Amino acid sequence: MAERLRSRARGLFVNTRWGSYGMVALYLSLFSGVIVALQYDPGHPYYSVSSLDILAPFGLFWRSLHFYASQAFFLLTLAHFLAMVIRREHESIAFKRWLLLIFSLVALLLILFTGYVLRADATGASAGMIAENILLSTPLVGRPLNWLLFDLTQEGVKRVYANHLVGLGLLWLVLSWDHLRHYRISWRQSPTLVLLLVAFPALVAAPLEPERLGAFHIGGPWFFVGLQELLRHLPPFWAGIVWPGLLVCALALLRRPALASRARLFCLAWLAIYALLTAVGLSR
Ligand code: HEM
Repeated sequence: MAERLRSRARGLFVNTRWGSYGMVALYLSLFSGVIVALQYDPGHPYYSVSSLDILAPFGLFWRSLHFYASQAFFLLTLAHFLAMVIRREHESIAFKRWLLLIFSLVALLLILFTGYVLRADATGASAGMIAENILLSTPLVGRPLNWLLFDLTQEGVKRVYANHLVGLGLLWLVLSWDHLRHYRISWRQSPTLVLLLVAFPALVAAPLEPERLGAFHIGGPWFFVGLQELLRHLPPFWAGIVWPGLLVCALALLRRPALASRARLFCLAWLAIYALLTAVGLSR
């Protein structure tokens, strides 16, 4: 009985159209992103986000729609990726194309992350500061990479804004184009999801955390909490570059038949440790 339930749940998971749902969430994220950008001022980020919430008509709704649709896009893309690996479809993808897909996930994570930094509240500001320190601690390429991606100390959120809107978006598109170009996905294919994604932000506002002067611990974005916890135990370069880099390498090796089973085990162990670190971080 338990076995039958398990295989039914597995079948349901691997056969769900996560990729098309993810694209629908992306359309909503892009549309609402353009609307919030009309009010957003990178010269006064926190002030413009809070005035969007308080003063602009339906401003809080559009910001919340952008927030939740973006989270949904990210999570649905991860589910799509996982279902593809469970179905072993990745085994038929050429290694070079597989690498492009893995890096497109990294670009997507960076788009999501820079969104939080743009919000410039306690969560966003501390996440940005930590990311900048991690990059600056990286030998040789750290400084130029920080200049390219964040440069918060010199430029405020201006560089991050340009990357969120254009640089990282283009990078993600270039990396995933070879995969995306085969599909035509319309929002009309998933009316229930559209309804859910529009109704939810109308009921639950996206978070905005005022600066907490003197606070000892500020939690970052949910996917960043585990890394913040690791930073308590390891130097920034090891926690912020080597540790996530190991997962990227293991994901890449899933496509190498001789190493695939060991890489799969490593990915599972990595995820279990990261979940544990996140749980410890959240309990602080
Ligand atoms: C046309 C494309 C986009 C534009 C013009 C745009 C614009 C913006 C702007 C102006 C902000 C700061 C205001 C705010 O806090 O809401 C923001 C925040 C954010 N963006 Fe985007 N964005 C775009 C695409 C995306 C995509 C594709 C993602 C997800 C992968 C994303 C994720 C986020 C997140 C998580 C926030 C923080 C929202 C919050 O908590 O308030 N954005 N975006």
